[in-house]
Amino acid sequence: MAKPLIAGNWKMHGTAVEAAALARQLVENEHSCAAVQLVIFPPILHLGLVALELSGSSIALGAQNMSEHESGAFTGEVSADMLKEAGCTYTLVGHSERRTLFGEVDGTVADKFETAQRSGLVPILCVGETLQQRQQGLTLDVIAEQINTVREKVGLKNICSGVVAYEPVWAIGTGEVASPEQAQLVHRAIRELLGSSGVSTSLLYGGSVKASNAAELFAQPDIDGGLVGGASLEADEFLKIAQLMT
Ligand code: 13P
Repeated sequence: MAKPLIAGNWKMHGTAVEAAALARQLVENEHSCAAVQLVIFPPILHLGLVALELSGSSIALGAQNMSEHESGAFTGEVSADMLKEAGCTYTLVGHSERRTLFGEVDGTVADKFETAQRSGLVPILCVGETLQQRQQGLTLDVIAEQINTVREKVGLKNICSGVVAYEPVWAIGTGEVASPEQAQLVHRAIRELLGSSGVSTSLLYGGSVKASNAAELFAQPDIDGGLVGGASLEADEFLKIAQLMT
C-alpha cells in the first residue's frame, strides 16, 4: 500500500533563501517520518532551487498551479511539462484560492487535471464548500459537483488514480478547523462517490491543520493524509504533523 501523503502548500511565502533553508531542514529530518510520503509545494519560482535541495531525498516536489494548456501563447502561464522538467511529480489543481480569487471554474479545473495526468504529474484535486454553502446545507452537493465535473472529463478510473483533497473554504487560513466528524462525513461521501475504484484513492484533509489537531483528524477512517498550509512553513511543525500520520 502507498504511504500516507502529507503535503505542504507554501503558497506565496518566502524568499529563495528561505525556501532552500526550509527544504534543507525537512531533508535533514525526513528520517523522523519515514512512514509518510512528504510532498512540498513551493512558489513556482523556487522550484528549481528546492529541487536541488531535495535531490537524493524521498521528499517529493509539487506545483501549486499549472496551465491547462500544453504549450503556446499563454503569457505568464507554466505548463505541466515545464513543471515535470523542474522536478515536480505532483500538482495541486483547483485550490480554493485559485477558484475564488482567480476565477477558476470546475471546467478549467477538469482540464488541468487531464493535462497534469497526460504529462505524468499526479494531480491533487482540491474541493470544498464555502461557509455560506455549508450553512445552506449544500456541502455534499458542492463537493459532488466539483468531483463529477472532473469525472465527466477524465473518467472515474483516472480521477481515482489522482488524489483528492477536501479543504473547506471556511477552514483555510482561519484557524477554524473542521471537526473530525465533519471532515469524516465529507470524506466518506467522497469515497462513496468514487465507488469501488476509489477504495485506495488518497483523500487528504486541509484547512488549519496543525500538530495540535492533526491526530484526531488523521484517526478518521477516510482521512488518508493532510494538505497543510500555514503550518508547513515551519519545518518542526510540519514534521510533527507528519509524525502523527502513522
Ligand atoms: P491552512 O493550513 O493555512 O489553513 O491552508 C490550507 C490550505 O489551503 C492548503 O492548501
